[in-house]
Amino acid sequence: MIFDGSLLTHLHNARHIVVFTGAGVSAESGIPTFRDAQTGLWTHHDATDLASPQGFQRDPALVWGWYEWRRMKVLRAEPNPAHLAIADLAGQVERLTLVTQNVDDLHERAGSGDDIIHLHGSIHQPRCFACARPYAYPAGIPDEPEGGRRIEPPRCSHCNGRIRPGVVWFNESLPEGAWAKAKQAGGDCDVLFSVGTSSLVWPAALLPGIAAQRGATVIQVNPDETDLDDVAHYNLRGKAGELLPALLDVLRKFVP
Ligand code: OAD
Repeated sequence: MIFDGSLLTHLHNARHIVVFTGAGVSAESGIPTFRDAQTGLWTHHDATDLASPQGFQRDPALVWGWYEWRRMKVLRAEPNPAHLAIADLAGQVERLTLVTQNVDDLHERAGSGDDIIHLHGSIHQPRCFACARPYAYPAGIPDEPEGGRRIEPPRCSHCNGRIRPGVVWFNESLPEGAWAKAKQAGGDCDVLFSVGTSSLVWPAALLPGIAAQRGATVIQVNPDETDLDDVAHYNLRGKAGELLPALLDVLRKFVP
């Protein structure tokens, strides 16, 4: 794979890199992206049926079933070469901030540490819809439910409210402090990678623009065109699990 010399120079000289990831980074681990999932098994439902407090109140079993389906995929998945390359990159630069929209823990399992900024929460941290107390899943990995299956959510042992997934839904705020930290890192970095995101969901999708406005170089990794194409200084078209390890390999040997 051949990479532009000026891109390699920017990376070589960078002191602070932000890596901003979306569902595409976990696609090669077998976790369907949102847009894939909704053109497939869950095609009858739009995002607000599955990912909003109103959707949960209307049909909790539909929403819980969708997230259980995703959670089982996450529990069975392994980090892929893209997650591993991002963890590896952190060892090659003075500072790396990882900001993800993903609710899985594959970056953590790839070795990226515990201070990852999860803008959209965690699928592993459910809580009560009514009183917000955390809920502990029973130990073990249950069988993966079929896509499209409705499952009644468990009940809170304190108030009998329904348990909801610990993720951020439409019409909800991001976890406290997460967006402020992400914006600060975006405004401070020399290079921002946007990896595997359609750049459609706000405010997360604003992050590369914030970095670009402050003079950072924005590199996008995505097999498809996105709304970020015009903002990014470099558009690397392809799969993250192939492009990122190849880029790191070239970067290691790069002499400016
Ligand atoms: P999307 O499903 O919107 O977009 C996934 C992106 O990944 C697409 O642009 C694909 O082209 C790209 N992609 C697919 N395979 C890839 C690969 N192997 N390597 C690199 N890129 C690949 O997912 P997000 O942008 O993450 O929010 O979606 C943003 C938010 O929308 C999610 O966090 C979720 C959803 O509603 C909440 O749940 C709040």
